[in-house]
Amino acid sequence: MAASMSSKVLLSCFSTRVPCRFARSCRLVRNVHCTSVIATPAYDKEFEAAKTKLNSLKEDPGNEVKLQMYGLFKQATVGKCNTPKPGMMDMVGKVKWGAWNTLGDMSRDEAQKKYIELVNELAGAVAESETPTQTGKYSTLIVERDGKTFKITLNRPSKKNAITYEMYSEWVAALEEAAQDKSVTIAVITGAGDFFCSGNDLSNFANINPAEIGKMANQAKDVLMKFVTAFIDFPKPLIGLINGPAVGVSVTTLGLYDAVYASDRATFHTPFSHLGQSPEGCSSYIFPRLMGLAKANEMLLFNKKLTALEAFNRNLVTEIIPEQSFVEETDKKMKMFSELPPLTMQSAKNIIRSVDRETLHKVCERECNLLVERWQHPECMNAIMNFFTRKSNT
Ligand code: COA
Repeated sequence: MAASMSSKVLLSCFSTRVPCRFARSCRLVRNVHCTSVIATPAYDKEFEAAKTKLNSLKEDPGNEVKLQMYGLFKQATVGKCNTPKPGMMDMVGKVKWGAWNTLGDMSRDEAQKKYIELVNELAGAVAESETPTQTGKYSTLIVERDGKTFKITLNRPSKKNAITYEMYSEWVAALEEAAQDKSVTIAVITGAGDFFCSGNDLSNFANINPAEIGKMANQAKDVLMKFVTAFIDFPKPLIGLINGPAVGVSVTTLGLYDAVYASDRATFHTPFSHLGQSPEGCSSYIFPRLMGLAKANEMLLFNKKLTALEAFNRNLVTEIIPEQSFVEETDKKMKMFSELPPLTMQSAKNIIRSVDRETLHKVCERECNLLVERWQHPECMNAIMNFFTRKSNT
């Protein structure tokens, strides 16, 4: 209650007392405090440039960042907080005072440096957000910012978006980028073409030198653990837009998303036993909790492929959307979600997930250790060989 009250007051402060859409806080700071700017610390020139740059930004960075800038500006120009805490009724004054006071004994040089870094980061984020597709950086994904939504599209449609080692590592990098980017409030993952994803690219296991199989299995374990860990630790709402069939690890990780919207054409298949493999993506822990042990086993042990409706009935999917309107409807939803207060969403996600986070890390490690064994087993090697020879036999 107190928090929402103060943020309301803060919002109204930033939106009514200062003219410019984005650089409100900076102007507010300057309007109020420029007279007290006295010394010229080490980064003075860059500091001035940062203030100018701030005025050229079009996106509002949000109250949390504006407060951070306010505190840093005061510390950089005046030094340690030297005013008494505002009284109870001065909600805005109290929040601003807190942002300054919390910097304690930080030197003015350090505050200037941090202020400059923050502005540059915002300027960088805005420059990137104006370029919808970052070509060159990712070769297996399309990574776009659509307003405040960070959209990752798996982009190997000719291979049904099977996940190569390169795609695993790009996917992790994209999630890290989404987590770091202050202008991003939610992340979504979808697939290009008719599939969401056909799971692990089985050619990751092809051409294995039998003498090196143990080493390769352990390398594959490291890749998978890093991948699943990126989901477990992702701090912002993560939403799956399942545009078509999903197989293997693209299904098992669904329990680590915060919401899953599926086209009515989507199917969900985890053919692990068939492939001599075992469940990953924390599904051995999450699936029985989502759908009950008997139903989870039907998928994870006995390879049952679920329709979208069955996945919805088993709580793996939040909502089913007809294929014809899937893109339009999910775009609308994502736009709406992305405008919700970002820190409120993050703290809600954190409290929901924190109960299980340590367990999930342990489960992930156990699942990956088991896979190291499975990948070296003849049942698995034979199944993979069968997949690649099946075409030549048809
Ligand atoms: N790994 C490597 N290649 C894959 C793949 C995967 N997981 N999934 C699809 N591909 C490739 C196919 O080999 C094929 O390549 P090609 O055109 O060079 O022959 C291409 O993608 C298209 O797949 P295709 O099998 O022709 O399409 P389909 O519609 O008949 O079947 C699948 C699609 C996904 C059902 C089928 O390819 C399949 O079962 N793939 C394996 C899925 C799997 O077991 N994943 C691992 C789970 S642990």
